[in-house]
Amino acid sequence: MKTVRLAHETDFAGWRDGARALVNAGVLPGEARFGVGCNDNGLFDEPLSAVGGPAIVVPRRFLELAQEVVLHRTADRFDLLYRLLWRMRERPDLLHVDSDADVADALERARNVSRASHKMKAFVRFREVEDDAGEAYVSWFEPAHRVVEKTAPFFVRRFTTMRWSILTPDLSAIWDGERLVYAPGASRQDAPGDDRLEDFWRAYYASIFNPARLKARTMQGEMPKRYWRNLPEAVLIPSLIAQAGRRTEDMRASPASESRKQTARAVARPARASSPHEGKVLDDLAELRPALQGCRRCDLWRHATQGVAGEGPRRADLMLVGEQPGDQEDLAGQPFVGPAGKLLDRALQAAGVDRENAYVTNAVKHFKFEPRGKRRLHQSPDAGEIGACRWWYEQELALVKPKVVVALGATAARQVLGRPVSLMKERGSPIDLGGGVTALLSIHPSFALRTPGEAEKARVVALLEGDLRMAAKLVG
Ligand code: URA
Repeated sequence: MKTVRLAHETDFAGWRDGARALVNAGVLPGEARFGVGCNDNGLFDEPLSAVGGPAIVVPRRFLELAQEVVLHRTADRFDLLYRLLWRMRERPDLLHVDSDADVADALERARNVSRASHKMKAFVRFREVEDDAGEAYVSWFEPAHRVVEKTAPFFVRRFTTMRWSILTPDLSAIWDGERLVYAPGASRQDAPGDDRLEDFWRAYYASIFNPARLKARTMQGEMPKRYWRNLPEAVLIPSLIAQAGRRTEDMRASPASESRKQTARAVARPARASSPHEGKVLDDLAELRPALQGCRRCDLWRHATQGVAGEGPRRADLMLVGEQPGDQEDLAGQPFVGPAGKLLDRALQAAGVDRENAYVTNAVKHFKFEPRGKRRLHQSPDAGEIGACRWWYEQELALVKPKVVVALGATAARQVLGRPVSLMKERGSPIDLGGGVTALLSIHPSFALRTPGEAEKARVVALLEGDLRMAAKLVG
């Protein structure tokens, strides 16, 4: 067995020189072997030292194919190429014989490599870091094949003015703004974790996602799960898929000017963007949901699946106001359909109130959360977000014209009264809002859910039920 030693895993020049020497020495494919970076003679019998001999003429197409196949991760790729080279001397048109097993194999490997390069272009996500020279960008990526050198020039063209590094287990590509150099492979720990760019990627992805075009299978094929853990926006994928149907409807209902392009531009602009709906007073509750999807009054729209409008009759004597949509409400596009909603339903029933007759909404219309692994943890809206959402609450109030508004929890109380509230001091007593509207402050159902101990929980639920009973009485 004759062996050619190659300097590294993608040593095409080493393979080409070694293959030429083997062919000139008349070494059959079954008697040749290519090994990477090993100078331990014990491993190889008869290492091939004399490289050279006359050049072998091969079609350009073969050279191009060989340069791709060398990047494939399979160990026998060099042997396959040598076999092809050997056989092409007899059959110069071999590469045109698609039915040939070696040809088909090589073409398939080249396709895999090309796909891996495409995925790298699509799924590298840079994170911002600060070094002595200022701001720089680093990303961690695990390509399916050894495509770093093949693909790095793409990033040079695309991000010429940035200083960046792409770290991979094989090799690291480093661009300092002038030169592209390669360094040894790295590990995931060498790359920085999250930063504010994650928000950008998430918002950008959510804005370019077109629910009308959703083909979940294709999407997952395009964005294979192996890459998800490096993609900040992957946390959005399940909710975007779940919401595709509803968002498609909203897209159709929205005016054409509210296009995806506009949204994408809004994302690219860090400053608050305005929306075509922003000062428009609604004539009808049916306009609320589509209008909410254009809301840019605060930043919560960026990460939420959708704005969740209130639900209920066009005119209702009783209005229930919660805090903000939770995880399930954000996906479903309806208020109080998750665990807190179930508890609220039971309390309403116990109080003799038919939910169907009440208008149920939230003080803040977008879900505020913090991604934690695959979960989205609820975060309370701040005063600015509550104030920004007042516009929508007031429109609901003007259209629904309730007699009684029950604020569930401190956020709702702040929205309804328009000032900070000490809930436990003010709950349970009717408050005149003027214009024939009475407010009643009560406990948020989630507070009851979180209360430890069955007895204590039952006491809290009883308070909520009592308040709802009083609200029913006030409605008359
Ligand atoms: N909590 C709320 O305040 N509102 C909902 O819609 C769901 C949970």
